[in-house]
Amino acid sequence: MQDVQKLEQIYEGKAKKVFKTSNPDLYIVEYKDDATAFNGIKKGTISGKGVINNKMSNIMFQILEKNGIKTHFVKELSDRETLVKAVKIVPLEIIIRNIAAGSFSKRYGVEEGTLLKNPTLEFSLKNDELNDPLINNSHIMALGVADENELKQISDMAYSVNEVMKKFFANIGIKLVDFKIEAGRFNGEIILADEISPDTCRFWDAETNKKLDKDRFRRDLGGVEEAYQEIFARIQNS
Ligand code: TMP
Repeated sequence: MQDVQKLEQIYEGKAKKVFKTSNPDLYIVEYKDDATAFNGIKKGTISGKGVINNKMSNIMFQILEKNGIKTHFVKELSDRETLVKAVKIVPLEIIIRNIAAGSFSKRYGVEEGTLLKNPTLEFSLKNDELNDPLINNSHIMALGVADENELKQISDMAYSVNEVMKKFFANIGIKLVDFKIEAGRFNGEIILADEISPDTCRFWDAETNKKLDKDRFRRDLGGVEEAYQEIFARIQNS
């Protein structure tokens, strides 16, 4: 594993690049400082974000692994690069919500910050041209995006990730409002892939409800870099 060579780039997303390696079972992901919102309409840079998102995701993946959740994480290679299992991403945004915010609040007319009676699970189809439309289990199976067994694994994994992360963040004075994860297929199994970072989660300070995530960028709230640094510092000091 030590002598895995970084080969050609196979994908560039809004926040990361993915490279092939000399081992067909492994990719290298490289985290960028680029930030977008509203399906790329708003563009910007969050200085140092790539380093924080890389390191924070890797910490989270290792905590989740310790709690029995399989992830794509293999090894951190540098500040911005990580060796991961070469999964095929299931084209779904898998979203868990504990507290109403964002598109949920808008869609259902619920005030942001309302505690939900149970964690909710929803899916969006990853398709930029269609603007990542909300999709239900029946649609997912009808379109062949995932089969029933995979959907069960994905749903169970999402709720398990929520339980582990909710506890972890509560211990460092953070409310885990909601988050988005992605699943990948690897050797016939569903495993956790992509990233877990302030780009993909809503984190509110437990005392003040201060937003410590990408909503500061999406909503022009200022203090974006500082929010990423603060959440990362709390994690490192935990
Ligand atoms: P939403 O309230 O805008 O639907 O977002 C729910 C969660 O998903 C929130 O934690 C932010 C995250 N998210 C992404 O990671 N990528 C996206 O493209 C969007 C729209 C949301």
